[in-house]
Amino acid sequence: MVLTGRRGNLAPFPAHARSACLAMRVLVGGGTGFVGRALTQLLQSRGHEVTVISRQPGKNKITWDELSRTGLPPCEGAVNLSGENVLNPFQRWNESFQQEVVASRVETTKALAKAIAEAEHPPRAWVLVTGVGYYKPSHTTRYTEDSPGGDFDFFSRLVTRWEAAAKIPGDRTRQVVVRSGVVLGRDGGAIAQMLWPFRLGLGGPIASGRQPFPWIHVADLAGIVAHALERDGVTGILNGVSPSAVTTTSGDFAQAMGSALRRPAVLPLPGFVVSAIFGPERSVMLLEGQRVEPKRTLETNYRFVFPDLPSALRDILA
Ligand SMILES: NC(=O)c1ccc[n+]([C@@H]2O[C@H](COP(=O)([O-])OP(=O)(O)OC[C@H]3O[C@@H](n4cnc5c(N)ncnc54)[C@H](OP(=O)(O)O)[C@@H]3O)[C@@H](O)[C@H]2O)c1
Repeated sequence: MVLTGRRGNLAPFPAHARSACLAMRVLVGGGTGFVGRALTQLLQSRGHEVTVISRQPGKNKITWDELSRTGLPPCEGAVNLSGENVLNPFQRWNESFQQEVVASRVETTKALAKAIAEAEHPPRAWVLVTGVGYYKPSHTTRYTEDSPGGDFDFFSRLVTRWEAAAKIPGDRTRQVVVRSGVVLGRDGGAIAQMLWPFRLGLGGPIASGRQPFPWIHVADLAGIVAHALERDGVTGILNGVSPSAVTTTSGDFAQAMGSALRRPAVLPLPGFVVSAIFGPERSVMLLEGQRVEPKRTLETNYRFVFPDLPSALRDILA
């Protein structure tokens, strides 16, 4: 292992999120996506070297086919962020799309876990990002990483299969799962889709606005994954939500968007419209929510860059 002085573009990451540490070679499945780009930038800014696993070949990339043919390239860390975009409004929620949503997560995770298990020199850490859809939506129950979940609807069953696919036998590699909430950032994710109605003054809460809104800034999701890769003691489940997300509702989010953009945010988006666009099963993600705490994440000494919604939105919408 070596210490390098290489630095990438540091702009969105405050100093404490960029502390120098031993350089690793990190393999990132789905590293071309919204979270993957933020993670790559953060890892490179800390002196790590990133190779992306993608469906498309390219510079600093390998394809999933190459991974299955030639096995794991030398690396000290591995991450999987692959997955078909669930909330693509142009995609009907039919059986073939549901199968793609599942396969793009479970099969890529299985392929990477298999390559790690078979590697002569496996990585020290293997991190999978899944979702808080594991926990049953509720206005009142507070969930920590120890809470049960996982077998009541499409998303909870998906997360159960996805996390099971990541398991590798033995203790040669530290295994971490980050259950992420709605990821907020400048270059993609939910905000990109919600921005225009708010900018036009047509934004507002979804349905009653009372449903919990489990959110995280993309810099913190990338930060938690980097923390999990770098910190030797970190293992098991970590909730990837902001500490204040446990009390944030969809109405609070609409209000904070309105004030950050200096626009009214009072026009509610009726639940039946959301259901009509996304279908009843998928609209659960927007019409219901989970009150999730990042209890273990904080216990592992991860320090959030954006612990509250107004500061996160000011950064994103600046
Ligand atoms: N964004 C959120 O709010 C959020 C919330 C909770 C959990 N997550 C999870 O976090 C991970 C990263 O999220 P993200 O927003 O960065 O995702 P994203 O940008 O939509 O996609 C990530 C990458 O997945 C790969 N991918 C897409 N469709 C695929 C398919 N059909 N088969 C195989 N690979 C496919 C693509 O890489 P290539 O084109 O290079 O192959 C893409 O760049 C995902 O697994 C997502 O489920 C995200």
